[in-house]
This record gives sequence, structure tokens and C-alpha cells, in this order.
Amino acid sequence: MAMQQSNKRRLFDCALLVAVLAAATIFAFDGGWAADASVKIDNFTFEPQVLTVKAGTTVTWKNVDDIPHTVASKTPKLFKSKALDTDDSFSFTFTEAGTFDYFCSLHPHMTGTVKVEAAASENPPAPAAVAMH
Ligand code: CO
Repeated sequence: MAMQQSNKRRLFDCALLVAVLAAATIFAFDGGWAADASVKIDNFTFEPQVLTVKAGTTVTWKNVDDIPHTVASKTPKLFKSKALDTDDSFSFTFTEAGTFDYFCSLHPHMTGTVKVEAAASENPPAPAAVAMH
């Protein structure tokens, strides 16, 4: 009985290892994997004020100030957080390249920018279909 359980346990560990290795392989070969990035909100300031990331990056803003702030894109309807209390955070994934300005809707003089660069591994456009005659 004890032997069986131990074999099962070993099988589970093995399966787990395979799963971890598979995940690591996917990340290793997907050059588009972008490290996540963070912006701190403190003293009425977004820090860093200008953040540059690759497309696909999830940016997380964390309010460490002692009053509420929001994170709202100047691009209409792209993203807008609720009021973030101290230690609350808000995340948004930037999928397209471009320059995205944002501000705090409670204190519009608080502004920041996320510059999103095209992911390095972006596939070239597929060749146009050849017309059949
Ligand atoms: Co604010």
C-alpha cells in the first residue's frame, strides 16, 4: 500500500516536471513573451512618468500614495480604473504599438505615458493569396 502511494506520488511529480518544462519551453521559444511592467503612484506622480514596453506587456499601476488616484487613458475607452485606494492596483495589457498618454481623472494634472513598441517576434504579414484562374 505504502509502495503504491509512493509510486503514485512519483508519477505525479514526474508529470508536474514535464508540465513545468513544457511551459518553460513555450516561453523560451516565444520571443514575444514580454516581462510585465509596473508604475508606482506616489506623491501625485506616476513613476516612471514615461514607460517603454513591448506589445503584449501587462502594465500594473499601484497606488502607494495615501489618497485615492485613478489611471485613465487619454485614448477614449482604452482603459480607466476605478478610484484606487492606498495599495490598490490596476492592470492593463497593451497589445498594440503606439504612444498612450494617461492621467488621473481625480487630478488631471497627474499625467503619464506608456510607449509600446512592436514585439520583436511579430510575424511578417502573410503573403497575399495567389488568385486562381
Ligand atoms: Co490623482
